[in-house]
Amino acid sequence: MNEVILKTVNLTKVYERGGKKVHALSDVNLQINRGDYVAIMGTSGSGKTTLLNMLGCLDKPTSGSVILDGVDITKMNESELSKIRRDKIGFVFQAFNLIPILNAIENVELPMECAKIPKDKRRKRARQLLNLVGLSERMEHRPHELSAGEQQRVAIARAFANKPSIILADEPTGNLDSKTGKHIMELLGRLNYNIGTTIIVVTHDYKMASLTGRILFLQDGRILKKEKEGTYLGRKK
Ligand SMILES: Nc1ncnc2c1ncn2[C@@H]1O[C@H](COP(=O)(O)OP(=O)(O)OP(=O)(O)O)[C@@H](O)[C@H]1O
Ligand SMILES: [Mg+2]
Repeated sequence: MNEVILKTVNLTKVYERGGKKVHALSDVNLQINRGDYVAIMGTSGSGKTTLLNMLGCLDKPTSGSVILDGVDITKMNESELSKIRRDKIGFVFQAFNLIPILNAIENVELPMECAKIPKDKRRKRARQLLNLVGLSERMEHRPHELSAGEQQRVAIARAFANKPSIILADEPTGNLDSKTGKHIMELLGRLNYNIGTTIIVVTHDYKMASLTGRILFLQDGRILKKEKEGTYLGRKK
């Protein structure tokens, strides 16, 4: 049975700059099922980051709503939102955003520290996650001692730390060569398969999008009617 984990209803975001309005998102209606691995594709300026920021409670829409796990997050206050961000959502960014003075295992532990998980428990989970992303030999390395692809794998392990319902990734392959980018998309697919976490990746690169199970298209702030299947088959439903 397909269960909807994330839904937007007429989601609209209008920015104002110098008296001019920019319609970054217009009436976006989309539904993502629990356990899916989905790509949202669009050219630069089409509204991808704006959409992800709304889905991830990082910014508020001008109108419309975002329903995550049956709850309308657009009605929440800042402290409720920060709890949702910490407990339900894992973020992966184009520039990795690792803490430079912390090594790999400490970076993965950080969100668990914020969630007040005891030290021995979070160390154990960080080790397991770094094993899962193939970095068991790099746990003590700081970000500058890792390749770009390895840094992104640490960031992915960190995104899974608090067992989120959903992972949101904004151009996770944007700073990587195409071969490493493909490995990162395949790794996200394996984690989706093994753990079952819903994953949404935004990208401008069709080659990367096609490695997910479903591709949605964003153009000028609107989701197009057409959508495509990717090559990722996922779990048997
Ligand atoms: N804070 C802001 N203030 C005003 N306009 C903004 C702001 N953020 C984004 N925009 C505008 O909204 C539109 C969508 O921007 P967004 O960053 O979501 O695009 P994107 O699809 O992520 O692009 P890229 O692929 O280059 O990252 C663009 O026209 C952009 O100029
Ligand atoms: Mg963007």
